[in-house]
Amino acid sequence: MNKKIKKILNKKNKSKIICLTAYSKNVASILDKHCDLVLVGDSLGSVLYNFNSTKQVTLETMINHSKSVRLGIKKSLMVVDMPYNTYRNPSEALKNSKLVMKETKCDAVKLEGGKKIIPMVERLVKNKIPVMGHVGILPQTDKKFTFKGKKLRESKRLLNDTKLLENAGVFSIVLECVETNLSKKISNHINIPTIGIGSSVNCDGQVLVIDDLTGLSQSKLKFVKKFVDITKLIEIGVKKYKSEVLNKQFPKAKHSFSK
Ligand code: KIV
Repeated sequence: MNKKIKKILNKKNKSKIICLTAYSKNVASILDKHCDLVLVGDSLGSVLYNFNSTKQVTLETMINHSKSVRLGIKKSLMVVDMPYNTYRNPSEALKNSKLVMKETKCDAVKLEGGKKIIPMVERLVKNKIPVMGHVGILPQTDKKFTFKGKKLRESKRLLNDTKLLENAGVFSIVLECVETNLSKKISNHINIPTIGIGSSVNCDGQVLVIDDLTGLSQSKLKFVKKFVDITKLIEIGVKKYKSEVLNKQFPKAKHSFSK
């Protein structure tokens, strides 16, 4: 088993797992120092391209951003989201995941869904491709983005889905917007780590979209916390630059070439 995956599995019930998304090299290299796992999420569709759904994200876009992220990662586990309609059956899932693994040199891929995707997960695992699961809100296919686990039937289904995914061989599962008590139940019910986003402190680890954490995205989602406001810092720099250019204070001789 990949050493980095083993390290993540060993954290269950010992220490929280730190995950963030990254879409390019410079940010990835900062995250790499502090994260256990860096995810190239298909959230890049809305964050970078203003798409109103992750359905529009292509395999090519995921591969290009992942290649950039790879350049910034030395120690963390790098996971790449398989985009919508790239894993509709086991052979399509295998062909596309193999391509992603080969082109991006990532450590694992992430697939959204429960019972329905088990044959695809099994095929990838059988072919030694590490897989991360993703249940709760499924941005690629859900019509309504409301939290999961309100009703008993839905809670039972999610509990069952996570056990099926574990049995199929995923090494970890993202829980997106899963109700607090259900997150606890799922995390206790399975032996692999759960990584929460909008799913309370009851998960084995947490993930956030990096542009939400830094305030670049202006997200108003309930589960988002802006830990720093990068926008303000960029504005300070840009205003200083503008003023120095207008006043001919930049560039100075030391920034220029003379014979
Ligand atoms: O696409 C993404 O960034 C994700 C995380 C929010 C888990 O799937």
